[in-house]
Amino acid sequence: MKSILVTGGTGFIGSHTVLELLKKNYRIVVIDNLRNSKRESLKRVEKLTGAKIEFHQIDLLDKPDLFDLFNQNNFDGVIHFAGLKAVGESVEKPLLYYSNNISGTVNLCEVMLHHNVKNLVFSSSATVYGNPDQSPLTENSALSAVNPYGQTKLTIEYILKDLYRADQNWNIALLRYFNPVGAHKSGEIGEDPTGIPNNLMPYITQVAVGKLAKLQVFGNDYETHDGTGIRDYIHVVDLATGHLRALEKLKENPGIVIYNLGTGKGSSVLDVIHAFEIANGIKIPYKLAPRRPGDAAVCYADVKKAASELGWVAEYNLKDMCRDAWNWQTKNPSGFN
Ligand code: WQD
Repeated sequence: MKSILVTGGTGFIGSHTVLELLKKNYRIVVIDNLRNSKRESLKRVEKLTGAKIEFHQIDLLDKPDLFDLFNQNNFDGVIHFAGLKAVGESVEKPLLYYSNNISGTVNLCEVMLHHNVKNLVFSSSATVYGNPDQSPLTENSALSAVNPYGQTKLTIEYILKDLYRADQNWNIALLRYFNPVGAHKSGEIGEDPTGIPNNLMPYITQVAVGKLAKLQVFGNDYETHDGTGIRDYIHVVDLATGHLRALEKLKENPGIVIYNLGTGKGSSVLDVIHAFEIANGIKIPYKLAPRRPGDAAVCYADVKKAASELGWVAEYNLKDMCRDAWNWQTKNPSGFN
């Protein structure tokens, strides 16, 4: 399996995965609608690898363009990152999310089917576990959606399971990411959120670089060791290598397989702040604020299945994540702009 289409390949996780694919000599084509990311991220990957990356600005809702692309290529498989992922925006604009994420994925699968391309790695999310009442979460933990974004990920998982039931020539890996953070050690690529960051780590790095004044800690009355929310933060490079292992797994014709991609360790908000301050020698001003609606108290992964079936274990720790996130931010105070 050498020729891979990467949808959403200019994004945070996509660009890091493209880098790892090129290092393993895959022949890749990247498409993205550039709604939430910049072409510059791929130019940085080209700089890091010396490779020339074939890129097409294609929206998955534009089926004729997608069809032409498959006609011009002989893809062995697809890694599908393309999708909107802002929880708050999904609550305000559910139809945008259902159309973009679900219809886009159905279009992709229909074009794949027509061209007999039946190897797919899908970018799912721990959000399909809803508001879990216990952790660690295994791949058999209860599934639910607590917002339209999460509903799109859950619905796409069901669509792909039905697709496999209907045609068992498909090989599909559903990868449930926990909290991706950090950046490639070069600082050339990293997380470049549009507007004010929703997520903790980019908010911290923007406070540290002086773009934002102070971090708000959403709630310190959770039943955790320090009262703040616990998550499973995973380095984006670990996440990228997890995709390559999943791609390798599909060569065994496993049918549909599901994996949590996390570290198996939980860190609280204050743990992250302290780790960042120690790793980078920078004080992060913060103030306690009310809980954010919809937030779970504790959410972290059981990662035994990916370890045993993919031979994949996250290698980077929280200090690495904080160091690399800061390195990216200092080298790119305004992201890719
Ligand atoms: C982490 C912790 C917050 C910001 C989200 C999506 C999920 C996935 C990853 C796509 C929580 C606290 C945060 C801040 C804070 N995305 N926090 N102050 O909510 O676990 O997951 O991103 O798949 O689908 O839901 O990540 O980084 O927003 O929050 O105190 O300014 O940091 O309360 O405890 P989350 P997050």
